[in-house]
This record gives sequence, C-alpha cells and structure tokens, in this order.
Amino acid sequence: MKTKIEEYLKEVDCFKADSIEKLEEFRIKFLSKKGLIPGLFADFKNVAPEERKEMGQFINKLKNQVQEKIVNIKESLETSPDTASKQLDLSLPAHAQLGSRHPLSIVRNDIIDIFSRIGFTVSEGPEIEDDFHNFTALNFPPDPPARDMQDTFFIEKDPDIALRTHTSSVQVRVMETTLPPIRTISPGRVFRNEAISARAHCIFHQVEGLYVDTNVSFADLKQTLFYFAKELFGEGTKIRFRPSYFPFTEPSAEMDVSCNICGGKGCNVCKYTGWVEILGCGMVDPNVLESCKIDSKKYTGFAFGMGIERITMLKYQINDLRLFFENDLKFLEQFKASY
Ligand code: DAH
Repeated sequence: MKTKIEEYLKEVDCFKADSIEKLEEFRIKFLSKKGLIPGLFADFKNVAPEERKEMGQFINKLKNQVQEKIVNIKESLETSPDTASKQLDLSLPAHAQLGSRHPLSIVRNDIIDIFSRIGFTVSEGPEIEDDFHNFTALNFPPDPPARDMQDTFFIEKDPDIALRTHTSSVQVRVMETTLPPIRTISPGRVFRNEAISARAHCIFHQVEGLYVDTNVSFADLKQTLFYFAKELFGEGTKIRFRPSYFPFTEPSAEMDVSCNICGGKGCNVCKYTGWVEILGCGMVDPNVLESCKIDSKKYTGFAFGMGIERITMLKYQINDLRLFFENDLKFLEQFKASY
C-alpha cells in the first residue's frame, strides 16, 4: 500500500491540466466515490494495526495534495487570459449606455420648434444682469422692495448687479439693439433666492416671448398662444386668460390651459379645476418700449413668459422639481424615446 501511495503522490505532483475538463477527470480519478483515495480508505482495514497510524497519515497527505492541486490549477485556469477569452462570447451585442436628452432640453426644444414655425427667432442674454435690464427698463418701481419681491440674488459688492430673476431681461436687450418688427423667444436659466422643495428651486428655466410691430393687438397675443398651447399639449387643448399684474405689461394676464391629464374633468394635478396655469403675458407697457428707445406711438407689442420646469412637469406628470437637477440615471433614462 505504501508504494502505491508513493506512486500516486508522484503522479499528483507531476500532474498538469490545461482545461477544466482534464482537471475534472483528475478529480474523478482520485476523489470520486469509486476513486483511488476512497479505494485506499476501503483497503485500510487490511493494514496491520501497528502500521495504521502511519498509513492513515500517508493517505491523508495524498488526499490533501490532490485537493490542493485541484484548487491551484482551477485558480490559474480561471485567471489565465487564454481561458478568459475562451469563455467570452464575442458575438454578444455590446452593452452600450446610450445617452438621452434631459427632459428640460426636450421641452425647451419643442417650444423653440413651435415658435420658429411662426417666424420667431431665438435670442439669448447674460445670466448676470444689471438692475436696468432686469428691473428698471421693465418698469419696476425704483424702491428696493420691488427687487426683493423677486427674491433676487445680488452680487454682494455691487447692488446694481444680480443674477437675472427672469428672462424678461432679454426682451430689453433685444429691443435696445433691434428695430421692429421683432419676433423672438429667449430661453434660459434664471435664479431666485428660494428654499429648494418639490415645487420651488433657486435655479430654473424660462422662455420669454416678445412680438413688437405696428398694430399688434391682444387678439394677436391670444391667437399666438392658442396655437402654441395646441401644438404643445395636443389638438383639443383649450386656453383661458385671467387678468393679472406685471410691471412690464398693460394689460397683463395669466394663461391657463385645459388640464391635459384629466382632459378638463378634474384631477389632483389641476386641483379639480380642470385648468392649469402655464404662463404670464400681456401687452408690452409703453414705458418699456420707451426705455428701449422704441417709439410707443408707432409700435405696440405683446410679451409672455413661462417656466420650462412647470410645463415639463405637466407634460410628463413629474411631481418633484428636484428630479430635474439630481441627474439620477433611473430618472433620465426614461426620456430615451423622446429624442
Ligand atoms: N417675467 C415673469 C416672471 O418671471 C413672466 C412674464 C409675465 C413674462 C408676463 C412676460 C409677461 O413677458 O408679459 O414671472
């Protein structure tokens, strides 16, 4: 028995395997129920009592070496680049992480598309504005509370400079530099010193619209915004205007659209009124035209401004504004199909 075991030990020592299959054959040969090692244990009863201790240790040594060999070879087979590449299925399609547009970009682009079809250009202005463009030229009264009403972020050292609180400032910049007729929309980021919650954020996005020409009337404003609402929310969409107040328009109004979620029947999005507010608008106040050196006796105009977050929330039934800024892939990936 001893010589047999010595032979086996040599065999184990010299054993090499270049595949899992060969290693498995080796395991079966030594360790399976009918394998060599269980065979040795079965023969153990024939060993003379005085040799049993030594023989027992000898068989165990063989068993340990076989097990060790198997573990070592298995490890090296698994980590060798050769087997790794054999296990790789190169015909599988690649797992590509395709990007998607941010929902706010999708809606902003939709809005730009809709207005560009009726002749509106796109204009932009700076995010850091002076008091004149953000407030004074827009007919805000000169006292500070009017500026504070918009929760303005001022630049500490210079109270004349602030982060723009609305894209209406771009109106002023366009009117200063362009002769009517003017037809433009101005998408962009705006900033207000508000606590962040599901319904408010200190950074958000607006689109401002401006139309200045001879004989522009409130009827033009209504028709333009009616067209816009139908294009954005669908053919059956209704609109209504409620009187409102903005320093830069007279008369001013807020426009509601019929709730696109319940179709006007009433649901928790429209608070069971059937209507949701989407923008502010009005006829450009003659003072604003004059501040921008446009003759208010010759020209009239309308303006409107809307929040992109609000419209996106309505369109996609998103109930927390913070989701737009967190860049959570689980949220963003849902907009892959949109474009
Ligand atoms: N600037 C306003 C705001 O931030 C929105 C607005 C209302 C813009 C009426 C307009 C307008 O051009 O006519 O709340």
